[in-house]
Amino acid sequence: MKKGSVVIHNASEVVTCSGYKGKAGAQMQDLNVLKNASVIVEDGIITKVTAEPIDLEYFLEKDFKVIDAKGKCVLPGFVDSHTHFIFGGYREEEYNWRLNGISYMDIMSRGGGIINSVKGTMATSKEDLIQVGIKRLNSMTSFGVTTVEGKSGYGLDLDTEIKQLEVMKELNKLHSLDIITTFLGPHARPAAYKQDPEAFIDFMIEEVLPVVDQRGLAEFSDIFCEENVFSIEQSRRFLNAAKKLGFKIKIHADEIVALGGAELSAELGAISADHLLQASDLGIEAMKNAGVVATLLPCTAFSLKEHYARARYMIDQGLIVALATDFNPGSCFTESIALLIALATNQMGMTIEETITALTINGAAALDRADQIGSIDIGKKADLVVHEFPSYKFLPYHIGVSTVEKVIKNGVLILD
Ligand code: NIG
Ligand code: FE
Repeated sequence: MKKGSVVIHNASEVVTCSGYKGKAGAQMQDLNVLKNASVIVEDGIITKVTAEPIDLEYFLEKDFKVIDAKGKCVLPGFVDSHTHFIFGGYREEEYNWRLNGISYMDIMSRGGGIINSVKGTMATSKEDLIQVGIKRLNSMTSFGVTTVEGKSGYGLDLDTEIKQLEVMKELNKLHSLDIITTFLGPHARPAAYKQDPEAFIDFMIEEVLPVVDQRGLAEFSDIFCEENVFSIEQSRRFLNAAKKLGFKIKIHADEIVALGGAELSAELGAISADHLLQASDLGIEAMKNAGVVATLLPCTAFSLKEHYARARYMIDQGLIVALATDFNPGSCFTESIALLIALATNQMGMTIEETITALTINGAAALDRADQIGSIDIGKKADLVVHEFPSYKFLPYHIGVSTVEKVIKNGVLILD
C-alpha cells in the first residue's frame, strides 16, 4: 500500500468547509457540501475533491488505499484549538463541590483550583505524563480531532513549565495527531507570589519566556487575564514581551468578569481571544476590526454552570468564531466534541453549519493554520473523518454521541 495515498469514494456528502482563512459571520453558514463525491489523497495531501465519477481501477493499480464511504459523510478532522490536556492528578472533589453550588473562583480563593493541578503535575514524572497524554490523544481521535492545541500552565516555575512543553513536543513525535503548543506560564499566582503578581510577571518575562523561546518549545503565549489572577496591565506587559520574542498571542479573556480582555486582544493583534462569556459589545467590535478569532468554550460554561458566551451576537456582528473543548482537570474535564456540538447547537443558538465551521476552518484560523488544515481543499493536509451517517445533520441529532467511524491523518488511516 502506498503510504499516505487514499481514495475515499461514494460518500453521500463530502462536507468540504472549503477555505484558506477563517470564516467571518454569515460565511460560517456555508459548508460547501458535495453529494456523492470522492476525495483523492497523494502522499498525505489532498489532490482532488470531486462529485464526478472517478476511475477506481486506476487508483487500485497504483496501490492507493480505497475507502467506500457509501451512506457516510466525510468531514475535515476537527481542530481542538484550546486545551490544557497535559496535567497530573485530578480534581473530582472540586467538580462535586461545584455541583453543590460552590463557585470556581470560591474554590480558587480557598487554595484549590489550578494550584492543585500544579502540585499534581510537579509530582508526576515526564514518562507518566507522556503515557496519560497518549490515552487522552487517543480519546480525542475517537471524537474526530486531528489537530490539538495544548497549553502549559500547571508548573508556574521554570522546570515544570518546561517539562509540560517537552512532554507535548515528545507526544507530537509519538502520536499521529498534530500538537501545537502554547506557553501559559501566567496561569495562576503561585503561593510565593500571591501578594505580588507583578514580581511573578517579571519572573515569567525574565526567567521563563526566554528559555521557552530559545528551546523552541511553544508557538503561542497565553495568560489568564481575570480579576484576582492577572490584570489587564499585567497581561499587556507579559503578552508584549512574548510578542517581542516572536510568539503569537492568545488570551484567556473576560471569562468571569468583564475586565476588557477582548479589547486587549484587539490592541495586541492576538490570533485569538478565548472564553469571552462577559465580553463587552465594544470588545467584540474591536476584535472584529482586528480580525481576532473568538474561541468559545461551551463545555467550560456548562461545567461551571455559567451562562454561555454570546455566540449568536458575535456571529451576527461578523466575527470569526471558533469552538474548542478547553479540556482541563478543573473547569472542564471533558474532551467530548459530541457534548460540545450538543451545547453549541442546542444551547448557544448556533446552527450545525456554523458549529462545524467553528470546529474546522475557524479552529485552524485560531491556530494560524487555515492555509494548511481545517477544510477539504486541494493542497491541504489530508486530515479526514468518515462519519457513520449520510449527512452532517446527524451530528447534532445523535445527541452527545460520537458519530466518528474512521479517522485519516496525513492520508493514513489511524482509526478504523
Ligand atoms: O481555561 N480559566 C483558566 N484556565 C482554565 C482552567 C484551568 C483549571 O481550572 O485547571 C480554563 O478554564
Ligand atoms: Fe483554558
